[in-house]
Amino acid sequence: MNPSISPVPLDKAYRLLNHGPTVLVSARHAGVDNVMAAAWCCALDLAPTKLTVVLDKSSRTRTLVEESGAFVIQIPTVALLDVTKAVGSVSLADDADKLAHCGVALFVLPAQALPFVAGCSAWLACRRVPEPHNEQAYDLFIGEVTAAWADDRVFRDGHWHFEAADPSLRSLHYVAGGHFYAIGESLTARD
Ligand SMILES: Cc1cc2nc3c(=O)[nH]c(=O)nc-3n(C[C@H](O)[C@H](O)[C@H](O)COP(=O)(O)O)c2cc1C
Repeated sequence: MNPSISPVPLDKAYRLLNHGPTVLVSARHAGVDNVMAAAWCCALDLAPTKLTVVLDKSSRTRTLVEESGAFVIQIPTVALLDVTKAVGSVSLADDADKLAHCGVALFVLPAQALPFVAGCSAWLACRRVPEPHNEQAYDLFIGEVTAAWADDRVFRDGHWHFEAADPSLRSLHYVAGGHFYAIGESLTARD
């Protein structure tokens, strides 16, 4: 395991998503692992910490989430730009070797039976909170965050430190097509 990965207290985990990063969603069921990109992911609640993510009915990752009842939301870095685009452009339904072809490396975290994507800056392990109406009508899934970790080179003491970290660790923000922004400068509002 990367020695810079540290646990994040659950009451601070919402901060991993507050800046609106594009995320990777991973899931595992019956020996099948998969990863997709998602721009539509958002913090939802503080205690217990919850988030929402839109998983289209066409995605194989959604099927794995429905079958297993669990998933990981992780925050890819600038270094994973091409991987992020690739896992959001190819479906496991069309390419059984999707993860290898997209350059995804998975790793494990202690006491977790979920696939985690290496090279991200943060990871939120989630339990699916079943809401059949939302899932069917809006493709909207709710996850309760059961554990979280971050790369302490860029997130520590409950705060992001993008301005001090290597630029390759910045988060990605999706527009359309192959166009993303990396997170920009830090601004502090007046008290
Ligand atoms: C940057 C990016 C963001 C995306 N955001 C979402 C999203 O929020 N929800 C969604 O259902 N699909 C989204 N997609 C599309 C899925 O990632 C894509 O359909 C993927 O191929 C599904 O893979 P799978 O079928 O192997 O699970 C996005 C694609 C890209 C490139």
